[in-house]
Amino acid sequence: MSRQKHIKALKYTKAINLSAELSLEGIRMTKKIVALGGDGIGPEVVDAAIQVLESMGLDIEILKPPCGEAAIKKYGTPFPKEAMDLTNESDAILFGATEQASVFILAYLRWFLDTYANLRPIKYYEGVPTPIKDPQGIDFLIVRENSEGMYPGREGDLSLLAERLPDYKDRLGKTFADWGPGKFAIRVFTDKGCRRIARFACEKARERKKKGFPGKVTCVTKSNVLRESGGLFQRTCEEVIKDYPELEYEHFYVDDMARRIIRFPKEMDVIVTSNMFGDILSDLAAELMGGLGMAPSACIGDRYAYFEPVHGSAPDIAGKGIANPTASILSSVMMLEYLGMRDKAEELENAVKEVYKEGKVLTPDMGGNSKTSDVTEAIIQKLK
Ligand code: IPM
Ligand code: MN
Repeated sequence: MSRQKHIKALKYTKAINLSAELSLEGIRMTKKIVALGGDGIGPEVVDAAIQVLESMGLDIEILKPPCGEAAIKKYGTPFPKEAMDLTNESDAILFGATEQASVFILAYLRWFLDTYANLRPIKYYEGVPTPIKDPQGIDFLIVRENSEGMYPGREGDLSLLAERLPDYKDRLGKTFADWGPGKFAIRVFTDKGCRRIARFACEKARERKKKGFPGKVTCVTKSNVLRESGGLFQRTCEEVIKDYPELEYEHFYVDDMARRIIRFPKEMDVIVTSNMFGDILSDLAAELMGGLGMAPSACIGDRYAYFEPVHGSAPDIAGKGIANPTASILSSVMMLEYLGMRDKAEELENAVKEVYKEGKVLTPDMGGNSKTSDVTEAIIQKLK
């Protein structure tokens, strides 16, 4: 976006705020969406999603402040203040992907905006090539804890722990010093973190049950080894599920679960798990639906929400115009649902469905030779 256009966007933001202050309920009708493309193919797939959304004539305003690799070149930072300010005022955020440059943006969206529930639906669309024999009907949801676990990055030199906790012994009876030189990483699970993600998963299972899904929550931990942290996660899920007598509950260890996702994908409904396990299982499960090119996600907190494809920045194909925009477009479907535009979300999802059912316009990751813009255009055509 040019500087001038960006300034206009900022003025518009002010106008919206003013009207919100003046209106009786302070309700803002036009939803404000901030698009942050990030790095690599991120901006390409987010632009595709924007084109699709704009073709739908929705009551939304999409703002596109500079960010990521492009912003570093121009402003010397991946996340200029204007972009952050707009993000802070947004109703929803569309995010692309991160390589090195935008890691800070991702951290901001997850930790500073506290978008603690990462929803990763695994849903098979007819016509999509997948290694699975009979994929029709695969439709489940991974709820990944997004705010704690290993990912805030508490790592360091083992000597630090040896010095600070000289008497601490592990289950083998060894102190940190006994292990000699090396590094550590700390996994933190909190009561609050476990409780809110367990509740989120149960609410989703309840919502899905109303739509005809089994109403089952599968908790995934490694509590046989990580007894304290994994144990807390598992116990908390078991407590929270008691408030949902209509739901079924089961627990599997993560290694067993990896196998089950492939072996029994149609038995899954809502899977709830911690940060790293959710990260790994969701990439694995994405293959059931045809790969990362198809897999959308939503990161939701109490005030903010952002929507991003599960895939990364794919630097090898960045700028070639061949990235599959579907995961980003399906993330927009999740965004429309979040914003309360259910019918529109369904319309858009159906357009995607039809394109794959026909199977004529496919990007290279799906075995075709269409471009990002061809897929985008095909979806827009189906919306007409
Ligand atoms: C994802 C990504 C991120 C994660 C990376 C980029 C930090 O892999 O969203 O799954 O691991 O959470
Ligand atoms: Mn990942």
